[in-house]
Amino acid sequence: MTRRANHALLDHAKLSKRDEFYTLYTDIERELQHYTRHFMNKTVYCNCDDPRTSNFCRYFTDNFTRLGLRRLICSCYRRYEADLFSSAHDGGFYRDYTGRENLDDITRFEGNGDFRSHECIELLRQSDIVVTNPPFSLFREYLRQLTHYGKKFLIISNINAITYKEVFTLIQSGEIWLGVNFGRGISGFIVPEDYPLYGTETRADEHGNHIISPNNCLWLTNLDSPKRHEFIPLTKTYRGHESEYPFYDNYPAINIDSTRDIPADFAGTMGVPVTFLHKHSPEQFEILGFRKGNDGKDLRINGRSTYFRILIRNKQL
Ligand SMILES: C[S@@+](CC[C@H](N)C(=O)[O-])C[C@H]1O[C@@H](n2cnc3c(N)ncnc32)[C@H](O)[C@@H]1O
Repeated sequence: MTRRANHALLDHAKLSKRDEFYTLYTDIERELQHYTRHFMNKTVYCNCDDPRTSNFCRYFTDNFTRLGLRRLICSCYRRYEADLFSSAHDGGFYRDYTGRENLDDITRFEGNGDFRSHECIELLRQSDIVVTNPPFSLFREYLRQLTHYGKKFLIISNINAITYKEVFTLIQSGEIWLGVNFGRGISGFIVPEDYPLYGTETRADEHGNHIISPNNCLWLTNLDSPKRHEFIPLTKTYRGHESEYPFYDNYPAINIDSTRDIPADFAGTMGVPVTFLHKHSPEQFEILGFRKGNDGKDLRINGRSTYFRILIRNKQL
């Protein structure tokens, strides 16, 4: 990325600090390598991405021929109003690329390029796969729109999103799942220099970009990958170690604090931490629910609430 592009990136970031986490090229490469076969002859839409600076756009233009893409659309949201950091400008814009156009060619929207605008929805309709890191503050709405239009997608999300009822419901039904990289598997995000830091790891790259490593993000997708069908090796047993697996007060299931402790021989319901979903294969386990016991309250052991738990059952037993 050029120095000039980096400045544009950061200027744009000042528009709305809360959602300005720019994805690193290396993290995009590391995840996308697992889905290559899905992109042949497809139209990819990056709908929260400045075509001039986004690493998603850069990745797909760099790999346009290798992936066999038909078309790449990158659209950028621009607020109209001037704020403390920027002057008023012209609204949103997009680049529509089929491998032949000049990469500097952009088209202005009439509106602001909001992913919910009719102009962006029209581009969404024309696309097959949406790939981006959307604004987390609008995550529910963003995902709802993708599923409403029946789109394939690969997007970055905060781990907390799993605990949203509507997101978990889609995971439970097997309509969406976690991608390959998770937590530290996503190395960091470029943020504006004056971004409020909250005890996260920070560093500067060779261009002077300010990078944070929040360790709390994941990829969410409905594109299949081989990893999704790998079984978790189960090395522990319930029999003989019953005391290590207490039952909940308000649900007939045992509690498990770490995915690696899931016993191979327990056929009943088990409560596992949210990180289990990163390793989940739908052929190995069935997801039954989350968090609540039969009384509608949080799962408890000896009167104490546990951390967020997902209830699963071993399908192989
Ligand atoms: C987390 S950042 C990621 C940017 C870029 N996708 C990337 O990964 O580098 C989310 C982006 O969405 C943009 N955004 C915020 N509200 C939006 C909206 N309503 N429609 C489209 N984009 C929006 C923000 O300006 C921000 O650039």
